[in-house]
Formats: sequence, structure tokens, C-alpha cells
Amino acid sequence: MKKIALITGSKGGIGSAITSQLVDDGYRVIATHFTGKLECAQKWFDENNFNPEQVRLFELDVTDTEQCAERLAKLLEEEGTIDVVINNAGITKDGVFKKMTAQSWKDVIDTNLNSVFNVTQPLFATMCEKGGGRVVNISSVNGIKGQFGQTNYSAAKAGMIGFTKALAAEGARSGVTVNAVAPGYTMTPMVEMMKPEALDYIKDQIPMRRLAGTEEIAKAVGFLVSDAGAYITGETLSVNGGLHMQ
Ligand code: CAA
Repeated sequence: MKKIALITGSKGGIGSAITSQLVDDGYRVIATHFTGKLECAQKWFDENNFNPEQVRLFELDVTDTEQCAERLAKLLEEEGTIDVVINNAGITKDGVFKKMTAQSWKDVIDTNLNSVFNVTQPLFATMCEKGGGRVVNISSVNGIKGQFGQTNYSAAKAGMIGFTKALAAEGARSGVTVNAVAPGYTMTPMVEMMKPEALDYIKDQIPMRRLAGTEEIAKAVGFLVSDAGAYITGETLSVNGGLHMQ
């Protein structure tokens, strides 16, 4: 029987690479997409030559607590189990704090942090009852070191790390591991959206002098969810080319 992994934000840069990695590793992936984005998701599915056994597209608004509870309970019934949860959905609304609107703050916290509660909560109890499972939260180097212009994003990504440690303590005795991966600057549409001068400034600070490839982040996730990761829990694995060392 294939293990089943649910990945939020699966057609984004890192999400797409994680989906491909887990499909290659033999998982069935439930790939969530935002409300009204089925056409876009279908295009992504076709372009990647997935088949319905490998990847199931699943509409989910990760910011909507009630919808997540309802739809994920139904998903559990339909699929029988979810073995792996990857909380990857995330957005940026960068701006210096003095000018940041309450809406930009709320949108980023809702999508990047509250989503982690909304998606993990309906699935975690079943993992514990079954006696095993994996949760991986995609945080960021900027949640560890803080980033100019990203108070909202850094707060959310740091919150994911605190959540990871606390839930790891709760899941440990049931064999459910909870870890975070903290990517550095990665070749994704999110990073391409940055002001070129801001990105150049950051690139100069990366000891490896390059951005990460999305597949480099996906491999770290693949490792944590594999049997090889069974005794690793509550950790944050940095994949940042040396941009920040703890
Ligand atoms: N540290 C200190 N000062 C800085 C700075 C930094 N890192 N970056 C900019 N400043 C200074 C500037 O030099 C400037 O100073 P002066 O007014 O004296 O000239 C002042 O702050 C204003 O800077 P900007 O001109 O850049 O201001 P802006 O309002 O046009 O833009 C911003 C603000 C959008 C936040 C822009 O600075 C920016 O894009 N910063 C980068 C944010 C970033 O790293 N985002 C990552 C997105 S990708 C991602 O998040 C994925 C991931 O996980 C890694």
C-alpha cells in the first residue's frame, strides 16, 4: 500500500518539487490548491505528467478553519489514512513595519501560520491512534534570523518552529514525528517577485553565492518523512547555503 502525503500549496515552487520528490519516492500525494484554482492546478498536474493514482488534486482554503475540519475529515474517510502532512502553503506581503497595514499582517499570519493549525489538527489524532506519521512544516531562514521588511513573514515562520517543537513533544510517544525545514532563498516565483536590488543584496550575503534549487529543499523533506528520519523530531533543518548558521 502506498503511503499518503498531503501537501499544501503544492503547485508553488517548493511545493511542486516536494510533490515530485514524494511521487518518485512512491507516495500518493494529496495536492491542495486554493479555492477557484482548479484550472491552474489541473494545468500543473498535466505539465508534470502525474496520474490520478500518484496525485489527487484537492481544493482547500487553508485559512478557513471550519472548511479544513470538514473537508479533511471527509478526505480521511475517502482515503482511509493520511500518513504525512507537509504544511507548505505560504505568501509574502513584504514592507517595512512602519508602513505595514493590518491586512498585510493578518493575511500572512493566516496563510502561513494559522493554516498550520487548520490543516494539522483534523489529521493529527488519527496519526497518533495509528501509531505513526510525519508532519513537516516549511519554515524559512527568515523565521530564524528575522528579515528587514518581513515582520509578518518572520513572525509566522518563527511561529511554525515553536509549533513544531511543541507538537513534536505531543506526538513522540505515538511515533508521530514533527519537524520543520527552513529553506534559504530558493529559485521560486516568490523570490523572483523581489525587488532585484534587494535580491542582489541578499545573494551577496550567501556564502555559497547561489540560491537553492527547489529540489534541494524537497530532498530534505523526503529524508525527514522517510524511515531514515524516524528518530528525528522537533528539529528544524536549515537548507540555506550558509546564509545563517546557528
Ligand atoms: N537592512 C538594513 N537596512 C535595509 C535593508 C536591510 N536588509 N534593506 C533595505 N534597507 C534600508 C535601505 O537601504 C533604505 O535606506 P535609506 O532610506 O536610508 O536609503 C531603507 O531601508 C528602505 O529600503 P527600500 O528602499 O528597500 O524600501 P522599500 O519600501 O522600497 O522596500 C522592502 C521595502 C519591500 C521590504 C524591500 O526592502 C525588500 O524587498 N526587502 C527584502 C525583503 C525580503 O528579503 N523578502 C524575501 C522574500 S522571499 C521569501 O520570503 C522566501 C524565504 O523564505 C527566504
